[in-house]
Amino acid sequence: MDTFYITTPIYYPSDKLHIGHSYTTVAADVMARYKKARGFDVKFLTGTDEHGQKIERKAQEKGVSPKEYVDEIVVWIKDLWKTMDVDYDIFIRTTDKIHEDAVKKIFKKLYDKGEIYKGEYEGWYCTPCETFFTQRQLVDGKCPDCGRDVERIKEEAYFFKLSGYQDRILEHFEKNPDFLSPPSRRNEMISNFLKPGLEDLCVSRTSFTWGIPVDFDPGHVVYVWIDALSNYITALGFLSEDDSEYKKYWPADVHLVGKEIARFHTIIWPAMLMGLEEPLPKQVFAHGWLIIDGGKMSKSKGNVVDPKFLVDRYGVDALRYFLLREVAFGGDGNFSNEALLNRINADLANDLGNLVSRISGLKGPEQTEAPTAPAQEAELAELSLKVISRTEELMDKLLFSDALTEIWVFIKRLNKFAHESEPWKLAKANKGAEFAGVMRVLAEGLRISAVLVSPFMPGSSKAILDRLALPEESRTWESAKRFDIVKSGEVAKGSPIFPRIDVKAELAFLEGQAPKKEEPKQEEKKEEKKEEAPSEQVPGIIAFDDFAKLDLKVGLVTECEKVKGSDKLLKSQVKLGDETRQIVSGIAKWYTPEEMVGKLVVLVANLKPVKLKGQLSEGMLLAAEGKDGTISLVTVDKPVEDGSEVS
Ligand code: MSP
Repeated sequence: MDTFYITTPIYYPSDKLHIGHSYTTVAADVMARYKKARGFDVKFLTGTDEHGQKIERKAQEKGVSPKEYVDEIVVWIKDLWKTMDVDYDIFIRTTDKIHEDAVKKIFKKLYDKGEIYKGEYEGWYCTPCETFFTQRQLVDGKCPDCGRDVERIKEEAYFFKLSGYQDRILEHFEKNPDFLSPPSRRNEMISNFLKPGLEDLCVSRTSFTWGIPVDFDPGHVVYVWIDALSNYITALGFLSEDDSEYKKYWPADVHLVGKEIARFHTIIWPAMLMGLEEPLPKQVFAHGWLIIDGGKMSKSKGNVVDPKFLVDRYGVDALRYFLLREVAFGGDGNFSNEALLNRINADLANDLGNLVSRISGLKGPEQTEAPTAPAQEAELAELSLKVISRTEELMDKLLFSDALTEIWVFIKRLNKFAHESEPWKLAKANKGAEFAGVMRVLAEGLRISAVLVSPFMPGSSKAILDRLALPEESRTWESAKRFDIVKSGEVAKGSPIFPRIDVKAELAFLEGQAPKKEEPKQEEKKEEKKEEAPSEQVPGIIAFDDFAKLDLKVGLVTECEKVKGSDKLLKSQVKLGDETRQIVSGIAKWYTPEEMVGKLVVLVANLKPVKLKGQLSEGMLLAAEGKDGTISLVTVDKPVEDGSEVS
């Protein structure tokens, strides 16, 4: 039996995982279910990435050990995947013994081969924050987080010789056009990272202890990527006593990752595997981000992005369907309640749900004649085969949205057939043989539809197949390629599979769920009232409420580069607390990318995202324009944390 190994990234332990995180995992689950249905021996891995200074600090704040801290969150994450009906085969934790033991061996093996060497990591250190910064990250020579003085410190550290792999990785990209999908990301990796040259990578730290120890050099712990990326092979028993699963399933067929970690998976990870002389994964698929209100998602947006809340309200299958249908897998897509509700009504309640409802519980007259095959049967049978073959092609390329569109071609045609043949009228007119023939075709079509949607909506698919009272062998993917399975055509009565939603009322309810801005104190309220009054009469003056619609935030520029093909635009990565935004601004004449990195800027965070020269811009930097046209960025007078509100 052919094997199929698919992975999600391993998640940082946080009880703030939102539907953006569920997106990767649901996509992997759909693919795993589809491949299982096609007869593959599938392994589907997910897990948690539990080490590092951030976790160590959070645990300290809570007064518990790091392990106790992550244990509790892992229970929450596992429950989230259960809620999302994610049926993984392996849940790897980087604190699992099998992982820790193997990472120590991986590190040692690379060291023995000369691929890891000891050197010195030099940087600016903020003692209260216990964090290293590069020169460029400092703000006016001070710590960008707390604004205090920093010291120049040299720390002994191990480095991985990433620089030596550039040519081999470039060659791999060139020889394997599908190694990184979609193709746009491949060009980005080649021209932005591989061609300009790779630097050696710092892979150990001595400034914190919550990590896997380097066993031949006490005091050092393995730093970030060697620990995290290795999970894909340690979970299969690589370098353990029993590596049979590794031998069976590696190399992975596909690593599903978000676009911001494509670089780690297609440059650092291949280099590590080359260093270990192990095969590379066959493909890395880097999908886009789900964005909301123009920005990257975060749990601070409230219930509307909380997967557990949404499942509770609309059902898991509706949410899974929406995630994979709404946005083409690969690109960024906006998440909105309105889009979700409209999709549920149009595709699920109207098309699929309605098809089930209109033929459920229909009874024809008693009759002994053989059913009369309707004229459309051959055409429907042929269409089903075409749809299945196109669906398979699209699913094999992870084009989920296109695959669903294809399946819906068939579902819509079936609905039209029900409309044309009106079995309820045939029953009333006592046309038993015709009624039975139409119902058989409808039930057959419904069976095929339910099988095709099963990877996306396993629960609803099962509910439909149960209404048709079909045995297991009539529920398989292969059985969907036959049009002669259903005998009786009877569909049991039941409640609607996808109830219609009153969109207006529901949106009003969700509006009430959105996080509120802090209520101003009583006296402040009075102040506002007093100042607001004139605005009603004076044109051009806005009310405080209008100003409050702007979400202004302080952001830290962490990366910046020129936009290719433009001499005006700079593309910056701006950190706002937990999230990072990409902002494109027309400031290249006044600032170099180097000058931008480390700056605390002020941005409008709730502007609708736009594309400038093909680059997504998720907000706008504020700047003043001098009389001579000079542009000067708005910044803050004293350092404050990035993500701070400006009001
Ligand atoms: N721990 C690392 C991965 C290590 S893999 C060896 C990590 N963890 S994460 O929890 O921050 O992110 C996990 C995944 O969730 C990433 O693929 C990321 O792209 C994805 N997403 C997080 N927010 C998202 C959206 N808003 N939309 C789509 N995917 C999102 O990175």
